[in-house]
Amino acid sequence: MIEVENLTVRFGPRSPLVVKGVGFSVPRGTAFGLVGESGCGKSTVLRAISGLNRNCGGRISLDGQPLEPSRSRSFFRSVQMVFQDPYGSLHPRKTVRSQLIEPLRNQNLPINAHVVEDVLKAVGLDPGLGYRFPHQLSGGQRQRVAIARALILDPPVLLLDEPTSALDVSVQAEILNLLADLQKERGLTYLLVSHDMAVIAHLCSRVAIMSAGEIVEETGIDQIRSGAVEHPYSRRLLSASHAYGKQEQRSIEELISF
Ligand SMILES: Nc1ncnc2c1ncn2[C@@H]1O[C@H](COP(=O)(O)OP(=O)(O)OP(=O)(O)O)[C@@H](O)[C@H]1O
Ligand SMILES: [Mg+2]
Repeated sequence: MIEVENLTVRFGPRSPLVVKGVGFSVPRGTAFGLVGESGCGKSTVLRAISGLNRNCGGRISLDGQPLEPSRSRSFFRSVQMVFQDPYGSLHPRKTVRSQLIEPLRNQNLPINAHVVEDVLKAVGLDPGLGYRFPHQLSGGQRQRVAIARALILDPPVLLLDEPTSALDVSVQAEILNLLADLQKERGLTYLLVSHDMAVIAHLCSRVAIMSAGEIVEETGIDQIRSGAVEHPYSRRLLSASHAYGKQEQRSIEELISF
């Protein structure tokens, strides 16, 4: 569904490369994780796929079709993004309802009577919340709204950039479970970026480990769980995430049914 070949990204014609020849492919209906330390280029890869950075080289294909440098409107019917901070990505002075129908308006699609209620229910929210403003919601509810907005066009692909890292551990688990359920029910394809191996392990079947703009290793999630990673950087990342997040990780694992 998503094919990235030799992707290079810089932030200006003469700036150094931030992403240095990254490649991976994500089969339809599967979830692929991109993990690595802060600043290694994970978000830059997602933004390049979304067309938010034009200083790119290499090839990106979607469902077998190579993408042109600028993304067409139809691209956003197939691919939507969910960001880390739902407060930042939602408009503070627009109701949930009006933000949810915006993508339909942008695409000149009909706005059916129950579409907002249906999508709110699909993400586990009370349809009555449609009349609230973002500041009248909890952090977890806001992230559910951001997911609802990504789903309203019924796209087959979601690009998820740290979708739970701004949330409390217990709320993180709820959102991860919601994302896992949605993926199963709808056969969605996910490309998930996180610095947290537990988050990746919950949703993804394969993972690419990034360091300084490059993928150093791609492996299955079972190898990650059993610690059977090869590259020294992957091993460091894995042991760091165990040591640092031991307490946190245990509580996530208790809440999540692996
Ligand atoms: N708009 C920009 N202009 C110039 N440099 C940028 C810009 N955005 C990001 N960078 C640089 O590109 C590199 C990769 O950033 P990126 O946001 O992709 O990292 P990340 O892996 O997502 O990190 P984090 O886990 O902290 O979100 C960093 O060195 C960052 O400083
Ligand atoms: Mg990032």
